[in-house]
This record gives sequence, structure tokens and C-alpha cells, in this order.
Amino acid sequence: MSETFTTLYNQPSSFPLVLYPVYPDDDQNRGARRGGHSIALRSIALRSIVAIATRASSFARAMRRASTIIARRSALAHAHSASRVTLEPSIDAPASCLGLARSIDRMRKSSRHEHDRTYSTAQMVHRDSAEDNASIAFEFAKDVMPKVEEIMKRYPTNYKRSAMIPLLDIAQQQNAGHLSISVMNKVAEMLEVAPIRVYEVATFYSMFNRQKMGKFHVMVCGTTPCMLRGARDVEKALSEYMGVKKFETTADGTFTLGEMECMGCCVNAPMIAVADYRNGVAGYTYNYYEDLTPQTAVKVCQELKAGKSPRVGSQIRDKAEPASGQTTLTSPPTGPYCRDLAQVKKDLAAAAAAAAKAAEVAKAEAAAKASADAAAKAEAEKKK
Ligand code: FES
Repeated sequence: MSETFTTLYNQPSSFPLVLYPVYPDDDQNRGARRGGHSIALRSIALRSIVAIATRASSFARAMRRASTIIARRSALAHAHSASRVTLEPSIDAPASCLGLARSIDRMRKSSRHEHDRTYSTAQMVHRDSAEDNASIAFEFAKDVMPKVEEIMKRYPTNYKRSAMIPLLDIAQQQNAGHLSISVMNKVAEMLEVAPIRVYEVATFYSMFNRQKMGKFHVMVCGTTPCMLRGARDVEKALSEYMGVKKFETTADGTFTLGEMECMGCCVNAPMIAVADYRNGVAGYTYNYYEDLTPQTAVKVCQELKAGKSPRVGSQIRDKAEPASGQTTLTSPPTGPYCRDLAQVKKDLAAAAAAAAKAAEVAKAEAAAKASADAAAKAEAEKKK
């Protein structure tokens, strides 16, 4: 398969983020030339640019680093297609790209949390290392295979790729919490898709980790309701307890401190979610700890580290009832009311009998009146 990197708009001065791969002899990738695939790649590249520009100390530095990363991403795709790459890594960006990057740079400079608030996951760039390179083989474990096969059976053979997210999820659990390049390649092989299609998914969803994780991945919810209820203080306390910054792993490999966006538990904000990667797929858990204070958040982590099972869910209430106590439904419910059907039947029979008697009386009265009228009429005729 030959591969050529072209520019989206065929502009010689295009910014590298518009580069996308074209596989001329691959039916599946005809869509890429029509633009569908390029959107995914561009969005990944755009995230890189946004993240870089937000973190870099100057606009020029951001541009240089962006160029390097795009070139690396391209080289990665190239490595897995084993083909020729023609790359034009120009950094003369069109005005719109420059405008975007400059606005982000301005935002970064005016941000109160300049080096603190970035994005929910670490940068998704693959760099070969001794622990994560394509030569390290990955296979699903024997005891995991039944689960993998069961998932794949859910989809028709021509839609195998639909199993991608559940397979990556299981692979991540087995692989101590992260998706190495070999794991992603294995999933691509099983689903019979190009590896880049798995990379796209694995680097898009923040639930998938591209860095080596600790035994416990502690994710602090950073969205508005949790933030208003003290998530930043919880995060600070955890950071101090663990001795690491956000997205870092402790030296003993026990914790990785992360951040997630709203996890649907705002009613008991602030909260953290903890993924437990100690016992592979069979022992994997993903628990919520809610209604936290900095102290209780640290206590939860201390107990996890000690091998205990801290209370899951709210730390101060039963479920999600008002924290200040119930103001409604304070007495036991009476339950549904049911009529005495035997009595109802009796009442209906009595009413029917009374109605029949009244009808008889009315009939007799009418007959008596009619006979009295007839007698009076006859008397009057006799007098004439
Ligand atoms: S904002 Fe934290 S769970 Fe919704």
C-alpha cells in the first residue's frame, strides 16, 4: 500500500495540521479523500495544537512544537503502513490557524490558572520507550478471551469495528490501566482495521490512558457543580498527599492523579472516581466516592493504599437525600387505599332494593290518583 500525505486544500503553505493520509488502493479509505477521515485526524491534530499553544511559553515556541508533534504523528502512521511518505511540514500557517493559535495564546496569558488548568487527560502523543514500543507483544489472557469473544459475537462480521471501544476497555484493564502501542495494534489486528483507526479512538476518549498508570487512577471531577462545592481543594489535598501534580504517578506506582469532566454525580458533589487496576480484568472496579472534603478524600486514598475498602458513594448520607435532612416525605407512606368490596356489594344491593320499592310506591300512587280522577269525572257527568 502506498501512502501519500497531502494537504487538505492543496495549498503549498498549509499548516501541518491539515495533513492527512490517503490510501489510494484501499476502498475503506476512499472516504478519507472525500474528507470524512481527515476530519478525525484534523481534530486530533487540532487538540494537539490547542494543548501546545495553551502550555507553551510563547506563540513561536508553540508553533515549533506543534510542527514536531505533527511530524511525529505522521511518522507513526507511516510506521504502521510500511510505505513511502511524502511530507511537507511547512509551518507557514493560513491566517485562520494563526488567528486561532494567537487567541489561545492570549487566553493562556490571561488565565488565572495559567499552568494549572489544561485538559482532562495527558497529551496523547506516542513516543517509543523501553516499556511501550511495537516490538513488545500483547495478547489477551486466556481467562479474558471468553469475554472478548462474547463481545465480538454481538456484532456482524462486517461490522467488527463496532467492538473497538469494549475491546480497548478490556485490554486497558488487563494491561494495568494503559493502552500501549502493542495493545492498540492487537485490537486493530483482531478487528481487521488499519491501526490508525484504533489510535484515533484511543486518543480521543479520555477514559483511555496512553500513559502508564498507577494501581489506582484517582480522577477528580473538575466540572462546575463539583468545582463550586470544593473540587479544587480536594484536588490540592490529594496532590499534596500523593506528592504529585495532576496527571502524574507516584514514585511507588500506587496512585495516578487525574481529572475528569462531569461524571453524572453532581447531586453529591464534589466527587472522585477511582479505577482500580490491581487485579486485572476479573478484579477491576471503578467506584465513585462522593460528598468529599479534602480530609475525607485523603482518607479514602489512605484506605485504598492500606488495602481496605473505603465506603463507596456518599461519605455523609445514605444516597442523595438533602444534606440538611428531609423536608418532605417525613412520615411513613400510607400505601394505596383499597375499598371493602363485600360492603360495596351490600350497599349497591340495598340501593337497588330501595329504588325498586320507591318505584312501586310511585306506581301505586299514580294508579290511585288515576282512579280518583276517573271517579270525579263520572260524578260530574251524573250531575249534568
Ligand atoms: S459536576 Fe462533578 S459529577 Fe457532575
